[in-house]
Amino acid sequence: MQDTSSKEAADAVLDSRAMGQLQLLRAHHPAAGAMLSRLGRRISYPRGVPAQAADARHTRINATIGQVTDGAGGALAMPLVRELLGPLDPDDAVLYAAQGGEPLLRTAWSEWQARDPRVARAARSLPVVTQGLTHALGIVADLFIDPETRVLVPDPCWGNYRGGLGLRRGARIDTYPLLQGDRLAVDEIARTLASESRPTVMVVNMPGNPVGFTPTQADAEALAEVLRSAPGPLVVVCDDAYLGMGWEPGLLEGSFFGLLEGADPERLLAVKVDGATKELFLFGARVGFLTFQAEPEVAAVLEDKAKAVARATVSSMSRVGQELVLQTLRHAQLGVQRDAICQVLAGRYRALRVAIDAHGLEAFPYNSGFFVLLKVSEPEAVRRRLLERGVGVVAFPEVGAVRLSYGSVDEADVTELVGELAAAIAHVAATSAPSVHDTVASSS
Ligand SMILES: Cc1ncc(COP(=O)(O)O)c(C=O)c1O
Repeated sequence: MQDTSSKEAADAVLDSRAMGQLQLLRAHHPAAGAMLSRLGRRISYPRGVPAQAADARHTRINATIGQVTDGAGGALAMPLVRELLGPLDPDDAVLYAAQGGEPLLRTAWSEWQARDPRVARAARSLPVVTQGLTHALGIVADLFIDPETRVLVPDPCWGNYRGGLGLRRGARIDTYPLLQGDRLAVDEIARTLASESRPTVMVVNMPGNPVGFTPTQADAEALAEVLRSAPGPLVVVCDDAYLGMGWEPGLLEGSFFGLLEGADPERLLAVKVDGATKELFLFGARVGFLTFQAEPEVAAVLEDKAKAVARATVSSMSRVGQELVLQTLRHAQLGVQRDAICQVLAGRYRALRVAIDAHGLEAFPYNSGFFVLLKVSEPEAVRRRLLERGVGVVAFPEVGAVRLSYGSVDEADVTELVGELAAAIAHVAATSAPSVHDTVASSS
């Protein structure tokens, strides 16, 4: 049953640990204290089996955790599993991962994040490991969103924000305009933010899905200034899924999270959601991270609460996935091999630009990530026509567009893809009445 009592009334049932955490946040990061949801206030990491097993990790005889070992803390894996793991050490792959994520991976990802000098400077928690970015967003939602919370996402945005941040938490999703012409709509975003005074969770996604847009450094800094000076309380969720994939000069470098460095804790809490999914092209590993920008005492409380939500939902995350990401981060070839894939994407991007311009198609501004959103009058009809032609795209009827993901299209096929799209638009315009499907919202 939905808890509709006021947060203050709900505080009466907080146990002493949760009350202590809330008091600490209120004293040292008032925005975080004010933004915590009812669930966020109540939940703290339990002193259950994982906590007691962690206490006992160096014991002589360890009879704590419900897993099967060789009796000395090592894996007792079937030989076939050992073989399938190849060079991965079974001890690092088949035993349970630590709650909140493997410590070595958390440190390694923190160092990876610190390639961005502003992020490196920011006081922040160790990243908490999550089951992909979607799970990180789900934890943010659980911790900070109640039905009365204002949730602001860009328009257009990744459709899954609606389920993960809105529906699941009984909150209404509001949007802010992302673009004004071919630039970030800084003034409009400022007006939208100022139009209500409710506690707000706001998502910033640069480069973004579905638009494939990153603002200029100057426009991103202007937006950061708007958010820093907003009265709050405000949680800014930086969804950095496509970080580091900018294909034009002059774009925001690094994460928007870094631009919020030093923001006033009375008013703002910045949260970073990122992960190996797209940044390391490890889509199926399901390793994401959640990082809070806060001084150590506050960061420890927020980490504790994030771990507690994870424990209560998926518990410990895939150890194999975490080990794969850790070994990837440690690998001497990481930089070179990642750049090579980025070059492939940049090549596809350039080919797309040429083809889109050649056909005179109208696109939302795109310069990064691996999506382009093209304006078409009947997106669903165009999508269906393309399916008949053996071409798959995603329809976004709510913004009158179809999305192409050049992440999954060979550069050699880009010209044909855009040619097929142009032909489908012409075909639909010539043959069909507006389709009922074009009123159906898409999400991907
Ligand atoms: C903007 C954005 N955020 C988050 C995600 C989810 O990432 P994951 O697959 O790691 O859950 C996606 C995936 O498409 C995305 O586009």
